[in-house]
Amino acid sequence: MVVVSGTHEEVSATYDRNKELREFDDTKAGVKGLVDAGVVKLPRIFVHHHPSNALLHEGSPGSIRHNQTQTQLRLPIIDLGDGIIDKDATFRKEIVEKVRHASETSGFFQVVNHGIPQTVMDEILEGIRRFYEEDTEVKKQFYTRDYVNKRVAYNSNFDLYSSPAANWRDSMYCSMGPQPFNPQDLPEACRDILMEYSDQVKRLGIILFELLSEGLGLKPNRLREMGCEEGHALLCHYYPACPEPELTMGTSEHADGDFLSILLQDHIGGLQVHHQNQWVDVSPTPGALIVNIGDLLQLISNNKFKSAEHRVLAQKVGPRLSIACFFTTTFLPSTTIYGPIKELLLEDNPPVYRETTVLEYTTYYMAKALDGTSALENFKLQTSSSEEKK
Ligand code: OGA
Ligand code: NI
Repeated sequence: MVVVSGTHEEVSATYDRNKELREFDDTKAGVKGLVDAGVVKLPRIFVHHHPSNALLHEGSPGSIRHNQTQTQLRLPIIDLGDGIIDKDATFRKEIVEKVRHASETSGFFQVVNHGIPQTVMDEILEGIRRFYEEDTEVKKQFYTRDYVNKRVAYNSNFDLYSSPAANWRDSMYCSMGPQPFNPQDLPEACRDILMEYSDQVKRLGIILFELLSEGLGLKPNRLREMGCEEGHALLCHYYPACPEPELTMGTSEHADGDFLSILLQDHIGGLQVHHQNQWVDVSPTPGALIVNIGDLLQLISNNKFKSAEHRVLAQKVGPRLSIACFFTTTFLPSTTIYGPIKELLLEDNPPVYRETTVLEYTTYYMAKALDGTSALENFKLQTSSSEEKK
């Protein structure tokens, strides 16, 4: 047995990681099941060895929480004015400018007065909590890793068997469009509110794609015409309180593999975005939704808009709930080809990426796991500089 002191790097002949992963998966009860069973020591499959882990928590050398500048950076909060953007051209121009600036720099911003009522946001969080707090036997019916054939996929760690270490999180994926479906396929605990929130967030997505199109200097419906808002899915996360948060992550650092994400988080916090070489807290803001650019929008905007790395810290407090809406058609067999938008290309702005399909991109992204590297790298044209992503 080799023990590398202080790193939890214990290589033991008796440790069968795959067996432990399978046993955990077979419970179909997720991380919540471990917490309910009274686990106080982290099972080894959740212990992170990734170097970024050393930067996570207070007390460790180079800790981000020692780095005072971390709290000085704040993401912009953009007031969408509850529909005024359609009536007031001057206001709209200002908003487009703010959206463009945020999308080009941090790739993240928050929006308020976005048109989704507070009651709907409160109720979707409550509905998701009801689902997770239901009897395990009920939830088990939805436990699967089949995202292609299943409308709803509840599991823990989509990349459980391929990532370097598991995250302290359970998730439920609901594909909400564009294919028609039977609402009865959704869990009863949150069925009605999922449908309601889905409609509302889709409407907001359309507004944002218009603002983003204008931010790129294109006509408002350009991104819509390309089908960026055609499909959307809701990924509903549950981050149980963690007994040893310094050893693991809620969500490992990653960039989203879609066009655009709209995230609703509860009051707990823990989400951070990588910006100007620091991890910046995305602080819970009452009534706000978080918007971030995904890889596919970075690709078609030819790096003008940034798909930023972000992560969620594991915490002693919890559970934390969040609901991400991903705009993408995921595994649908669409033939639409996506590459850098032609109008954006100039002699001194040649295409950085090759053309691809959403299906090809998603398949690559999902197989790659959240390993801290960008899936976009794989789609770069040979001639482009490897410095382009950041
Ligand atoms: C995601 C994500 C953040 C959160 O689902 O891709 O980054 O706060 N979620 O749960
Ligand atoms: Ni994400």
